[in-house]
Amino acid sequence: MEQTLSIIKPDGVKRNLIGKIVDRFESNGLRIAAMEMKWLSRREAEGFYAVHKDRPFFGELVDFMVSGPVVVMALEGEDAVVRNRDLMGATNPSEAKAGTIRADFAESIGENTVHGSDSLENAKIEINYFFPSTQVMSDIK
Ligand code: CMP
Repeated sequence: MEQTLSIIKPDGVKRNLIGKIVDRFESNGLRIAAMEMKWLSRREAEGFYAVHKDRPFFGELVDFMVSGPVVVMALEGEDAVVRNRDLMGATNPSEAKAGTIRADFAESIGENTVHGSDSLENAKIEINYFFPSTQVMSDIK
C-alpha cells in the first residue's frame, strides 16, 4: 500500500472539474486519505516547487498556482504513485495518452490541471508538506 500527493490545480477548480477528477481516482483503485481545498500563499507554492526554483518557468508556475484555490489530496492504494501518474498522463497534455486526465482536461504544459508526486520518496515529502499525519486517514475500509 502506498500514498501519493495529488493537487487539482487552479484551472481544474475554476473549470468545475473537481468531481470528475476525483472520480478518476476513486474508480481506479485509489482512495482519498486526506483532502483540503485551499488557496496557496506565494510562500507555500514556492516552497512546494522549490526543486524547480532555477527553471525558467518557475515564476510562471508559482503565479499560476496562486491564481485561485486548489484541492490538495493524499491518495492511497496499491502502487499509488505510478497509478496516479498513469491516470494523469504526461506533463505536457499534447503528449498525454488518450483517456488520461491531462489529455482530457488540460490546456497547456503550464496549466496542466493536476500535479502528482513523481516517486514514493517525494510523495512522503509532499504529503508531509501539506498534511500533519493526524489528518491522513490511512487504510480505512
Ligand atoms: P507539475 O507536475 O505540477 O510539476 C512542475 C510543473 O511545472 C509541471 O507540472 C508543469 O505544470 C510546470 N512546467 C513544466 N515545464 C514547464 C514549462 N516548460 N513551462 C511552464 N510550466 C512548466
